[in-house]
Amino acid sequence: MTLTQPEVSEVDLEGHFERTVAKDQRIEPRDWMPEGYRATMIRQIAQHAHSEIIGMQPEGNWITRAPSLRRKAILLAKVQDEAGHGLYLYSAAETLGADRPDLTERLISGRQKYSSIFNYPTLSFADVGVIGWLVDGAAICNQVPLCRSSYGPYARAMIRICKEESFHQRQGFELLMTMMKGTTAQREMVRDAVNRFWWPSLMMFGPPDADSPNTARSMAWRIKRHTNDELRQRFVDMTVPQAEALGVTLPDPDLKWNAARGHYDFGAIDWTELKRVISGEGPCNAQRVAHRRRAHEDGAWVREAAAAYAAKHEGAVRD
Ligand SMILES: [Fe+2]
Ligand SMILES: [Fe+2]
Repeated sequence: MTLTQPEVSEVDLEGHFERTVAKDQRIEPRDWMPEGYRATMIRQIAQHAHSEIIGMQPEGNWITRAPSLRRKAILLAKVQDEAGHGLYLYSAAETLGADRPDLTERLISGRQKYSSIFNYPTLSFADVGVIGWLVDGAAICNQVPLCRSSYGPYARAMIRICKEESFHQRQGFELLMTMMKGTTAQREMVRDAVNRFWWPSLMMFGPPDADSPNTARSMAWRIKRHTNDELRQRFVDMTVPQAEALGVTLPDPDLKWNAARGHYDFGAIDWTELKRVISGEGPCNAQRVAHRRRAHEDGAWVREAAAAYAAKHEGAVRD
């Protein structure tokens, strides 16, 4: 006997999707979703995962040269957390039907992007502090609203990731506080690192709203909850008092409190630099991708061995 199901039309499915999003409920992997939503989610999660993995490189560069066992242990833990974030996020992308080897291939062939901030070099140990304070700080501003993103697996991954990011930011701030209480040379290292990372940190929020054509769609789908400019302003407002507490001057003569707006005003961002770095012309783009590609190729034997073991084990179970 065959049971005839009432036909569910695409319109009903779309209506259900729209209502779920409008009610602030989550879209789950087995739910119907528009192809545009699926593609946007895969692209965003993959770029996020790639950023976590590539982001291990600039700081990993200092693990062997950390100035004390304590600093080495903190930095190791932090870089390891970033690997975990990447793995979480690749898994979240897989729930949408993305293929993990394909995503890796897109990264190492330069077809998929990662955050432009990781294309800048780390020139001193103060950079470890500044990356924790500013780069992880900017990541927190971006990611806390993503805990309420409409795609369930992404939103849930973000909750744990944000908890770890807040440790990352604090370890950076604590390192900088220690250096600022140290020698003149240490304070100079901090000043130099802040000067190099301040503007690229502001660029992490992406192009200005007027130049961000996908924002409206992502906001309507509740993938994004705030625009790039809103998040950038939030980051500036949060960071200025922290800079004052540290005793460092942010490299922007136009930075000042605007009582009428209730926010800090800040200077114009060099968007041509962001475009240049995104298009592959940043100081370390080629190096970062080449390193990732080498690590992937060096790991080929591990993947082969694991696959051979799994196949053998499967055979043994069947027999
Ligand atoms: Fe992270
Ligand atoms: Fe982090």
